[in-house]
Amino acid sequence: MDSAGFPTVRMRRLRRTAGLRAMARETRVSASQLIAPLFVRKGKNVREEISSLPGVFRTSPDTALREAEEFRKLGIPSVILSGIPERKDEEGTEAWDDEAAVQQTARLLKKEIPDLVVMTDVCLDEYTSHGHCGVIRNGEVDNDATLPLLAKAALSHARAGADVVAPSDMMDGRVAAIRAALDDHRFAERAILAYSAKTASAFYGPFREAADSAPKFGDRRGYQMDAGNSREAMREIELDLQEGADAVMVKPALPCLDTIAKARARFDCPIAAYNVSGEYAMVKAAGRNGWIDEKRVTCEVLTSIVRAGADWILTYHAKEAAAWLADGTFLA
Ligand code: PBG
Repeated sequence: MDSAGFPTVRMRRLRRTAGLRAMARETRVSASQLIAPLFVRKGKNVREEISSLPGVFRTSPDTALREAEEFRKLGIPSVILSGIPERKDEEGTEAWDDEAAVQQTARLLKKEIPDLVVMTDVCLDEYTSHGHCGVIRNGEVDNDATLPLLAKAALSHARAGADVVAPSDMMDGRVAAIRAALDDHRFAERAILAYSAKTASAFYGPFREAADSAPKFGDRRGYQMDAGNSREAMREIELDLQEGADAVMVKPALPCLDTIAKARARFDCPIAAYNVSGEYAMVKAAGRNGWIDEKRVTCEVLTSIVRAGADWILTYHAKEAAAWLADGTFLA
């Protein structure tokens, strides 16, 4: 280390002009890191704005395709599909229906935009009448009874063409169960992005409104992680990698930047961070009230997630951020 200090050293020299600041910036966000979430339901020409997620829509397969075409034009390589079923039941059977909205959309997207990376959220909560992420036995979410159902759902998504299946349920052993099911059915080449470190967070509120998936009794603390834990997150990630996950996720992003950084230091696989619905809703709401500058706050948020160590970001701001990256106004 050099021992020189002020006035020889002046940290402000490299902050003097926009050009110098741009060159000195350590963290760069690229549209190629973004994954855009889509909520899909059956039908034609559906485009319903979600009230707690302004600018985000429930779409039918055809409108989802039009959205995805816009994402591609902006350099966003990937979407992740969450399904809104026609009917809910105790076991969430529509989750593995080959004709359900996620499956129809995945098929259409892969046919029309073959190089789009199609990911699917694998979970039961959108599909169960009780809103939990697994089957209920004796009043509790039964881990082992849920695994074959998740495997069936993931397999159905793979059959529809999903490149990456992303289990978000937090059951123990789901990655191994899904890997085995895919391998047994000649889908050994399809990847798994595990929602590994997912805390029981109040930041998922708007998503649950969008998918009508709030639990009808109790909450998710019996399977999602405690918000105070980061060492436990490392164990979750390690287990998912042992079970065959190709990439792992930390969620939500901003409350877990330390977990992202720790995971980056320990694991060499791609790390995704989910900038979740509540994080987006807060920024949108404050922006609409004129209390913050939405664009600048969003750019800071995404930059901080990459700075912490994330390779991929799932964000409802994907389209806007990609446009700002393209026109040179991102963080400008
Ligand atoms: C479960 C799932 C949830 C989210 C993604 N997948 C909801 C939950 O666990 O309650 C939340 C994502 C967000 O808030 O944006 N299928």
